[in-house]
Amino acid sequence: MKLWGGRFEKATDSMVDDFHSSISFDQRLYKQDIAGSIAHATMLGEQGIIPQQDADRIVQGLKDILADIQAGKVQFETDAEDIHMNVEKLLIERIGEPGKRLHTGRSRNDQVALDGHMYVKEAVLQTQDLLKDLMHTLLSIAQKHLTTIMPGYTHLQKAQPVTLAHHMMAYFQMFRRDYQRLQDCFKRADVMPLGSGALAGTTYPLDRSRVARLLGFSEISQNSMDGVSDRDFMLEYMSAASISMMHLSRFCEEMILWSSHEFRFVEMDDAFSTGSSIMPQKKNPDVAELIRGKTGRVYGDLMGLLTALKGIPLAYNKDMQEDKEALFDAHDTWTKCLLVFNGMLKSVRFRTGVMEKGASGGFTNATDAADYLVKKGMPFRQAHEVVGRMVLHCIHEDKALLDLSLEEMKEFSPIFEADVYEAISLLSCVNLRKVVGGPAPEMVQRSIDEAQGWMDGLK
Ligand code: ARG
Repeated sequence: MKLWGGRFEKATDSMVDDFHSSISFDQRLYKQDIAGSIAHATMLGEQGIIPQQDADRIVQGLKDILADIQAGKVQFETDAEDIHMNVEKLLIERIGEPGKRLHTGRSRNDQVALDGHMYVKEAVLQTQDLLKDLMHTLLSIAQKHLTTIMPGYTHLQKAQPVTLAHHMMAYFQMFRRDYQRLQDCFKRADVMPLGSGALAGTTYPLDRSRVARLLGFSEISQNSMDGVSDRDFMLEYMSAASISMMHLSRFCEEMILWSSHEFRFVEMDDAFSTGSSIMPQKKNPDVAELIRGKTGRVYGDLMGLLTALKGIPLAYNKDMQEDKEALFDAHDTWTKCLLVFNGMLKSVRFRTGVMEKGASGGFTNATDAADYLVKKGMPFRQAHEVVGRMVLHCIHEDKALLDLSLEEMKEFSPIFEADVYEAISLLSCVNLRKVVGGPAPEMVQRSIDEAQGWMDGLK
């Protein structure tokens, strides 16, 4: 008989049993569910809502069930629908009458919301650790390559020279924001909904703050209807996941490009590459491609839940059961991608010579040539025009700006002097960009130090 079977005259169609049962995936919440029940039962006993000795037996029974699940001794039943009823049913089977008092003043609606909050809090902390590991890797690559010059791109056309350190620190900033988004998400996950009941609270004198303290929550929810139907904290986690996957995907795209024969900026480690079943020469960046591909799937998780939620009236509706697979999948995918990506990045070999050579083609010093004229008094718009004509000339002659003789340069503007060669060398192009946030090694060192200080300040 079902735990809710009292008002039914007929058994559920087996198709329906199978269709609405969530135990196949929500068994993953057993730890949260049991911890929540232990806290609830403890409070019920303390408040005298159920006899203290029943509370004690419930708590002990739940601890035993937890141990048995962890030891692989428990077989969950599809028939018992979800993790909440599976645990309750097991408890009643094991301890009898007292077990029937556990669900006093509680509904599965606030119970499942509680489990979700607890799950997201844990997921946030776990993901933050992985982000920290990745940020450490970025800092150490940056520290090693402060003066490794490489081309910076816009429109995937060579634009201005930067350094590998500067490029890596750009990604550091992105992952730092991902970390901070999680810090923010944590605040909303850290709100305890139990006591909301099915939707309208309860008449029992529950001590909600006590339950929150027992479970390590900082706050309790302030509206019972919102308490059971809020899934924002899950959406926030999935939004953070989607944005961060987008960052990983962009980074992967660069790794894929950079490892192509056309770029040859990096050599992926054998341990993070795969071969072809037909072409013997191939070494493919499959790991990076797969992360790029999985990004779409995490967006799908977010979109799926947003869409499931958009039309449902207050308060709880069964549509909400769809939250879990999306959340679990986003969490699993994001964390796995962070882990593997970090391994790949740690082992990649940068071909610094190819990068530096790449920085010298494509007129990456053209802006600096214009700035040179500006520093000698020419208005920028005019300098832009002069250097533009020089570039066109060089393209016809198949030369770089630095290949032009001073006489040739003077034909474009008499302002040019011998010091132009030093001023538009790659080294100067990078070293003189000393604006805060710029690629000059001293500025990148500053940003590494600032980043390291921020990391050290994290718990
Ligand atoms: N398995 C349900 C879920 O995941 C638990 C809450 C069910 N509540 C209900 N009244 N059917 O959302």
